[in-house]
Amino acid sequence: MRFGMNQNQEVEKIQIENEYIKAEIMTLGATLLSFVEKESGIDVVLGFENLDGYLNQHGSYLGACVGRCANRIKGGHFVLNGKEYHVPLNDGFNSLHGGNCGFSSRLFEIEEQDPNHVVLKLNSEEDDEGYPGNLCLRVCYRLEGRCLYFEFVGESDQDTIFNITNHSYFNLDGALSKSILDHELQINSDRVALIDESGCTTENVIQVENTGFDFRELKKIRNQLNISHPNIESARGYDHNYVFENLEYKTMAILKGEKLMLEISSDLPGMHVYSGNFLDGECCGKQGNFYGDKNGICFECQYYPNAINYDRFIKPILRKGEIQTHRICYRLAKREN
Ligand code: BGC
Repeated sequence: MRFGMNQNQEVEKIQIENEYIKAEIMTLGATLLSFVEKESGIDVVLGFENLDGYLNQHGSYLGACVGRCANRIKGGHFVLNGKEYHVPLNDGFNSLHGGNCGFSSRLFEIEEQDPNHVVLKLNSEEDDEGYPGNLCLRVCYRLEGRCLYFEFVGESDQDTIFNITNHSYFNLDGALSKSILDHELQINSDRVALIDESGCTTENVIQVENTGFDFRELKKIRNQLNISHPNIESARGYDHNYVFENLEYKTMAILKGEKLMLEISSDLPGMHVYSGNFLDGECCGKQGNFYGDKNGICFECQYYPNAINYDRFIKPILRKGEIQTHRICYRLAKREN
């Protein structure tokens, strides 16, 4: 179904559905537009009623798939196979979410579609936003029971960076809720990386114990945010990468709202938690809700931000000819306790 026009190109909206879940996706940015638990009728992601909303959203990347490199690359500079690369600085001194024209603003084509899955494809050419290699990306959305799976499959004709994630903002209390502060959150990691003054993740990994970053057990977000920490203050909330270290598939976090719960799993080594600190209250979202600070929370499963420049972290490199697949799952269910 047609969702609107962007730069003379038609943007399509696709619906996938099963017994428990209904989701809508658009071909621009392979964006998740809605994610509904059918029995309660609650849509748990922030978004806009029409395409214009997405085109004028003040850099918040609502629901989009971001890449080639999710989050920041310090100074927009990295070295791969001895060669220096410079990618666009679109976030002060850093390159954020793939640059000025990252994958979130690109039109994908529909490659496969049936009632409960869709595969979207994007060919990103050599030197696209300064990155090496012709990269072919497939994003597969698939429903299985209460799970919405994302599969990111990449193949390139040269070594390149491959770090894609989904940038949905969750609010489990539905489209009119103004805040996630009363949600409860559990994050299955005991370590988080601090950020520098530019917001870029550093190699300084701390233990979460006795800090506001500690979500090893289910805790109310509001209470943890009230525990003072200079890095939480400088970010105006959470904008930090939790460290998981390996590429095994695991459950990374659980979020609970009034009636629903969400479980986030992936095979990626990090999870960047962003509590919507820069939502500015000026964009009119679903049902007339103007999204402000802490209206939604993102769980961006990805390689560690700026990992390409750090030797102690796993680097997000896709080798020439290799086919790399990463998987994220959002499981949405009724809250049991
Ligand atoms: C970043 C934030 C940024 C947000 C929206 C997040 O992934 O970590 O710093 O403000 O995306 O642009």
